[in-house]
Order: sequence, then C-alpha cells, then structure tokens
Amino acid sequence: MIPLNDRFEPRSTGAWIYNPATGERIAEILEHDPRTVPLMVQEARKAQAEWEKIPYKDKKRLAYEASRWIATHADILAGSIARCTGKTRTEALATEVLPAGIAFRYYSERIPHVVRPKHLKSSSFLFYNKKSIQYRVPCGVVGIISPWNYPFGIPVHEVAASLLAGNGVVLKVATQCQPVGELIQQLIREAGFPKDLFHLVHLKGTEVGHAFLDGGIDKLFFTGSTETGRVLMQEAGKRLIPVSLELGGNDAMIVLSDAPLERAAAGAVWAGVSNCGQSCGGVERIYVERPVYDTFLSLLRQEVRQIRQGPDSFDVDIGSLTTEEQRRKVMSQVEEALSHGARLLETSPSPLTPPLAPTVNQTPLFYPVQVIEIDDDTGSLMQEETFGPVLAVSVVDTEEEAIQRANNTSYGLTASVWSLSKDRAAQVASRLQAGVITINDHLMSHGMPETPWGGFKQSGIGRTHGDPLIEEVTQVKVVVWEKLPRMKRNIYWPPIDSTVYEGLMGALVLAAGKGIRRRLEGVRKLLRLLIKRVRYF
Ligand code: NAI
Ligand code: MG
Repeated sequence: MIPLNDRFEPRSTGAWIYNPATGERIAEILEHDPRTVPLMVQEARKAQAEWEKIPYKDKKRLAYEASRWIATHADILAGSIARCTGKTRTEALATEVLPAGIAFRYYSERIPHVVRPKHLKSSSFLFYNKKSIQYRVPCGVVGIISPWNYPFGIPVHEVAASLLAGNGVVLKVATQCQPVGELIQQLIREAGFPKDLFHLVHLKGTEVGHAFLDGGIDKLFFTGSTETGRVLMQEAGKRLIPVSLELGGNDAMIVLSDAPLERAAAGAVWAGVSNCGQSCGGVERIYVERPVYDTFLSLLRQEVRQIRQGPDSFDVDIGSLTTEEQRRKVMSQVEEALSHGARLLETSPSPLTPPLAPTVNQTPLFYPVQVIEIDDDTGSLMQEETFGPVLAVSVVDTEEEAIQRANNTSYGLTASVWSLSKDRAAQVASRLQAGVITINDHLMSHGMPETPWGGFKQSGIGRTHGDPLIEEVTQVKVVVWEKLPRMKRNIYWPPIDSTVYEGLMGALVLAAGKGIRRRLEGVRKLLRLLIKRVRYF
C-alpha cells in the first residue's frame, strides 16, 4: 500500500537532467511509484464526472485563462523548454509557446461545433418512424505520453482538447523535459481547472505503457518512435484501448523548376534544421528539378554557411541536439551515406560555445548542419527518420521521378511542393502520400491548431490538431427515437411467418430495386404485410 500522503508526490532519483547545449545540471529526475497511476486515473475519473456536467461557457472561460497564463509566462516557458531541449528560446517561443497560447482559445471555440448534436437525415422512407440524434461525448480519462523534441508544443494541444471536450487527463512527459511538464501542471492548476482532473506523472519510458494501459485510461495518445508506437499499440490492442499514434516522418521537399528558389533554400534550412533537425515533420530529403539544381544548391549552401549555432541566446539561429543517442544515430546515418558514395557539400560553422563553466557536467551535444548530395534512396539516411540537422539533396529529371522518390519511404507524415505554378503544385500535392502537404512552406502547420496533424503509413494512426483531434478525444453516441411508441410492435417482430419475409423482400426491392414493374411488385408484398399487421398500429 502506498502511504496516503505520498500518493501523488514523486521522489527524487538522485539522477540529473542536463542542459544539452551547455552541459549544466538543470534539475533532479523525479519518479512516481507506478502504482500511483491507477489512483490518479480514479481521481481524474471522479473529477471528470463532475467536469462533464459543467456548462460549456465555464469551460471556455478556463481556456481563455489558460491562454492568458501562457502569454504571461511565455518567457519562463521558453526558457525552460530551451534548457531541457538545447533549442533556442526564440525557437521555443515560435514553435511551442505561441502555438500553445493560440490552441487553448481555438479548441474552446471549435469544440461546440464539432460535438454539437446532429439530427441524422433518414436513409430511407422505411425508417419514417425513427428520429436519430448523434452526440459526441468525452472518452473519459485520456493518457498522454509526449516526447522530448517539443515538450510543450506537442502535449498542450492534446491536453487542451481533451480537457475542454470534458475528459480527465494523465500526462507523462519525456524524462529529459520533466521541468516543462511541471510548468504544464502549473498552467492547468492556475488556469483554474478542477483539482484532480489533470495529473502529471513521472515514470520511466519502460514503465509508462503498462502503468497507463493497466491503470484504467480510456484512450492513449503517444508521440515518439515507430518502434515504441508499435509496441504500445499491440499492448493496447490486448486490452482494446483506442490509441492515437504520431510517429515521426521522413519528409520530402520537392523543388520544381519554377520554384521561388531563394525562399525554397531558406525554407529548407528553417524546416530542416530548426530544433537541430529533431522535428517529426522536418525536411529530410530535397528533390530538385535539374534546370534549377545548381542555383538552388548554391543558395542552400550559402544559407548553411551563415548559420550560427550555439547555446541559447538571441545571437544564434539553432541550438544543440537533445540526447547523446540522437547524436550517435545521426552520425551513423551520415557515415553510412558518405561511405556509399554520398558527398558532403557543406557544413555549418563551428558552434559559438562560450568557455565551459565549472558547473558543466556533460559535453554539449552540438551537431553541425550538413548538406549532403546523394543519388540513391536505399540507405538509412534516406529511408529512416533522421533526427538531426542533415539536408540530403538529390537532383531529379522529371516531376514524376520526384513524386516517385518522395513516396518511396515507409513514412508519410508531411511533404512540401515548391513552385510558383498553382496548377503544378496542386497536381504534385495530390499525388504525394503524406498526411500534411504544404505548398511553398514546410513544417509550420504544426503551429496551426486548425490543421490536422498526422500521417500515412508508418507515421501513425489518427490525427492531432483540428477537428480530427476533437473527434479523437470524444466518442460517438447516437440516440434513436421511436416516433410511434404507442404502436404495439414493429411489423417484423415475432410472430414470424412467410408474409414477413416476403414483405421485407418487397420493402428492399421498393427501396433499392430496379425497374418500375419489380418495384410495384415490391409495394404489393409490403402492403400485404402491413395489412396483416394493421392491428399493431
Ligand atoms: P522513444 O519512442 O523511445 O521515446 C519517445 C518518448 O516515449 C520518450 O520520451 C518517453 O516518454 C516515451 N517512451 C519511451 N519508451 C516507452 C515505452 N516503452 N512505452 C511508452 N512510452 C515510452 O523514442 P526515442 O528513443 O527518444 O527516439 C528514437 C527516435 O524516435 C528518434 O530518433 C526519432 O526518429 C523518433 N521520435 C519521433 C518523435 C516525434 O515527434 N514523432 C519524437 C521522439 C522521437
Ligand atoms: Mg532520413
């Protein structure tokens, strides 16, 4: 038994979280007893039962409070995100804090439209006596497991939509980003959401899956690697718990011969290397039509030569990688490509690191931006997700080749087309196999709460953001009313005889059959049944 007072208090593990861009210690790693999860779910479920009944206008008021809290605490949030991830404060503000501030308000405006009861139009005159109303109701308690690359931007959408749609939430953030998780908890509390409706739990990655799935959650959101997503889905399947998985990508950018080249080169750098390339929807593979290849490449190289990398400050463009495993993985993908004939064309200048302070405990995890020219798509750099600032560029002879190669991956999260011709861009976009296509931009739609986010193929199941997210955190309930409740029986209820069979056959032919003669025959059979059962009316 866990002592009552310690139930929801995490303990210190004695291990530390380090700022990956400076090596400085930032916080002690906390851990809950995994047995607290069922208790948290129970508490959340109790609170949820009350929360669900609260008038929507009051829920909306809290959403506005939450947005205001984010705006007021933006600098603290951006600073904490930067320290945990190694990205810059400006990146944290642009890609996480600002979109999250918009998200609370957005979902509070949008939810009533999506969950509004719908009167369903009858499919056939045969159901003249039915009235059907479709509702969307909360799932119950939603479990959210979020990653370290966007520790605020990713979970806040799911938390906001879940709570505002009437659910309770248990959130686990990546261990590396626990301080950001604590700020999310503070945000929810100080915005005024009911006590116990939201719980933050600190667990090891290896423990959270079972703790959540056996702890009583009704729905699971996971963002992370395809491997872990696959394991979680199998485990959830055994318990029939619905999951929504956002599992990363291997995004292609197609630069057509009529592309705005300067914008394309700058956009490739922004979407490919911001967050030091650790974005699920970041640019990874660039396919460029031959007539503009040389010009594009020289613009891209020029952009990369100007990148300033370093620990968080307003004078650098990008920060460091977040974990040592990422650095090893990116390095090995690059080495493999280079040993198979790919060519390293450009590397960004060395990071602007100040002299290491005496408090530094770990080497900073900088990795330079690299432009790599590559001809074939078979190696791990082109086939796997590359969570680092590596831009792989390849020349293509036709639009067709660009489409084929862009689609030649097991992922399908996002892709982009760069062209000044609307028709060409639309045509190419329609053939790309990805959940999000941007034209003359890339990645940024994650910052727009109205655009669904999620992918085809191994990039995941379900969607976050937009109306689909609201649908994911609610479930359909339909209420079918009988309009003639005084009718003693339906005509096809027992006792059964051959007129019932014939009559139903007649109804089917009348409703769906071909030819006036057969349909009239259908009317005759149906009428026979109705006359025989007239006493039921
Ligand atoms: P991972 O899938 O192991 O970890 C992601 C998060 O899931 C962790 O922060 C942790 O909170 C949680 N986790 C870890 N193991 C778990 C388990 N067994 N059950 C439940 N939750 C678990 O990914 P990792 O090792 O951090 O990164 C590997 C690769 O995954 C990256 O190189 C990248 O390609 C991809 N990735 C994609 C992300 C995205 O935004 N879609 C985010 C993070 C990683
Ligand atoms: Mg890749």
